[in-house]
Amino acid sequence: MMKRTYIAEALKLTDQQVLVQGFVDNFRDSKNMAFLVLKDITEKIQITVDKGSHPELLDTLGQLTNDSVISVIGIVKQNDYVKLHGVEIEPVSIHIESIAAPLPIQRKEVPATKKKAAVERSSIDQRIDYRWIDLRTDENQLMFKVQTEMVNCMRQFLLHRGFLEIHSPKLIGAASESGADVFKVQYFDRDAYLAQSPQFYKQMAMASGLERIFEVGPVFRAEKSFTNRHTTEFTGFDLEFSYIQSFADVMHLEEDLLTDMLEKVKLKYGDQIEEKFGVQVVVPSLPFPTVDLHDLYQELERRYHYTVDESEKGDMTTEAEQLSYRWVQEVYGHEFLFVTGFQADKRAFYHMRDDKGHSMGYDLIWRGVEITTGAQREHRYDILKRQAEEKGLGEDVKFYLDFFQYGCPPHGGFGLGIDRLTMLLLDLTIKDAMFIFRGPNRLTP
Ligand code: 4AD
Ligand code: MG
Repeated sequence: MMKRTYIAEALKLTDQQVLVQGFVDNFRDSKNMAFLVLKDITEKIQITVDKGSHPELLDTLGQLTNDSVISVIGIVKQNDYVKLHGVEIEPVSIHIESIAAPLPIQRKEVPATKKKAAVERSSIDQRIDYRWIDLRTDENQLMFKVQTEMVNCMRQFLLHRGFLEIHSPKLIGAASESGADVFKVQYFDRDAYLAQSPQFYKQMAMASGLERIFEVGPVFRAEKSFTNRHTTEFTGFDLEFSYIQSFADVMHLEEDLLTDMLEKVKLKYGDQIEEKFGVQVVVPSLPFPTVDLHDLYQELERRYHYTVDESEKGDMTTEAEQLSYRWVQEVYGHEFLFVTGFQADKRAFYHMRDDKGHSMGYDLIWRGVEITTGAQREHRYDILKRQAEEKGLGEDVKFYLDFFQYGCPPHGGFGLGIDRLTMLLLDLTIKDAMFIFRGPNRLTP
């Protein structure tokens, strides 16, 4: 048996015999000729069959359907008449690995022609029902290449700076963020919870003297939200590091990390992203603009007449988040905005607080959507215990509070949503950007 060649490679092997394998991306059959477009993860190539000289292939061609999987052995030929790369394969053999039944979804809209009416694209929910078929499109495959590059760049960035990668448990004994949106699961004869973040264990790693750690892993939120940016299970990119002097150190690390990542993603995929998604990857300038929440509300009111009730101003409303993008673009020509000065009681109990009653932390907003919450953490046992109790957390977080009783360095960190990052980079909704979306009404496929 011949070795398989990726199509991207085969395109360069003029006059050589190759074995290529993939999905039938397009199939046109006419009286004398058949034209197939074969697609693998790297590229597409045309297979041209002159039926007269290949009577032995007619039976196979008669069975072929779009999206079937085939193996083709043939000779790579240059041919300027072929639109696709000016290259085609003259087949020696075509073997069907798997026949595709007529597809249950329409992945792309087909515009009307003189003879045929337009075909509408299936809705995102219909497409998620058959996600594996939907993921075969060029756009979706590019999305995963881009996401892989994103996460890999961030991982490399941290590894170069001495961070260690940890893998913390997702079955835990207490809610880590808030009791309201935690999934409770049966754990033998008692209850357990699905981790809402690796928060407790990131901090345990600080008390363990690991100094700088990160984790990329699943995060669960029992939120009944139906928006284009909420899901019940997502991938978190979390980090934590010791001996910070303030949460500004955390912000600096994050802006450097994201800038480095976007620079690399633009270099490798910028053109393809623009072609397939119509979006420009913008490498941000440093430092990212920062605004105090109180000042932001004043600005939004002054410039856009956006007003909210005083009681809501300790936190950021969804509209403020969206409007802040307009503001940061107009004032700074920037896509990112750090917001500080959140009211402590609106934030998690483990954030360190200043004497004005503000959390010593921040949110990072990109293109009008929160992608990160970060903070310096309260590492002093007595204060932390009091803050937990104020939020009604006592006995259940005792195991966590114990991390701070036997020596713990000052530290801080952040949690970044990978799905939101991908979604914002490519201008998609979260349902489009996830491998498989999970929401209140969806547990399959
Ligand atoms: O802002 P969150 O809740 O912060 C934490 O989990 C803290 N432990 C972080 C820290 O270290 N202080 O979540 C972090 C990020 C959000 O900014 C957002 O990008 C993403 O996770 N996220 C969600 N993404 C999709 N769907 C949801 N329901 C999300 N909830 C949070
Ligand atoms: Mg947050």
